[in-house]
Amino acid sequence: MTQTILTDWDAAKAAAFEKENIVARHTLHQREIFSDEGLIDLLDRYPREAMGIYTMGLDPLDSKSFRAGNAPDLSGRELFQAIHEGRIWVNMRKANEHLPDYHALTREMFDALEEQTPGLKTMKQDTSILISSPNAQVFYHLDVPLVTLWQVRGVKNVWLYPPETPFLEDDDLETVVLKESEEEVPYALSFDDGAQKVRLEPGMMATWPQNGPHRIVNEDMVNVSLSCEFQTMKSVVRANAIYTNGVLRRNFGLHPAIAKDGMLSLYAKAAIARIFKKLKFRKAFAYQIPRTFVVDPTSEQAVRDIA
Ligand SMILES: [Fe+2]
Repeated sequence: MTQTILTDWDAAKAAAFEKENIVARHTLHQREIFSDEGLIDLLDRYPREAMGIYTMGLDPLDSKSFRAGNAPDLSGRELFQAIHEGRIWVNMRKANEHLPDYHALTREMFDALEEQTPGLKTMKQDTSILISSPNAQVFYHLDVPLVTLWQVRGVKNVWLYPPETPFLEDDDLETVVLKESEEEVPYALSFDDGAQKVRLEPGMMATWPQNGPHRIVNEDMVNVSLSCEFQTMKSVVRANAIYTNGVLRRNFGLHPAIAKDGMLSLYAKAAIARIFKKLKFRKAFAYQIPRTFVVDPTSEQAVRDIA
């Protein structure tokens, strides 16, 4: 049954998983839960206070224009309409924890991936449902875990950059892993020459190596996508080794480079990270973007600023 989710996942894709960018075909976009009524129902059922609601400008360099907002008084239908007419990016994180049907869907998706990828064992699955306006974008950033991005409705362009210099410096990667900043890292337009650009249409899925920076721009229509984060043993080890490198650089004045760490070194550093965390070498703080607007269908781009 799970065979019907991923339709062209073959041995080559399985072998490249976690190591290279992969684009594959899926069938999720055919499901009724992604119809207009299904999505409106989802917007009503997902806890509104947990919903990430954002707006932004059109310039890929203007990441400062990315702001968070609220939509406390709109029905699912009104919010869905505002997404069509405005410039809004709705992110329903951990939908698999909040909603039983998305819990079941997430299991189906990861079961399919694991069945068709020998040796793969995923954990900490976190499914975000993204519903976003025409031409909305997500600025250049990286995610600490691994990601699969499933396109369900509309078309978005995704630029995938290698997780290495000059696209990503160790210090900046460590800053994200140590939670000293959001997921954003420095970006220059010239990076695009070294990126793989993927035009993601309904029924397509993309995945890339852990920590690979990426940016996303919707075409001129509403987009619906699922962004599924997850970890493997290898990805947890790498994330913790980066944590240790970050402490070694910041507290001990060393100059580690994650690309130079062999398997043994990665495991040793991951073990050391547990000690560093226990000893509280670095203060952990989760930065929250202040919510500075409300979604208002009568305002321009459906965004009304609040003080
Ligand atoms: Fe991302």
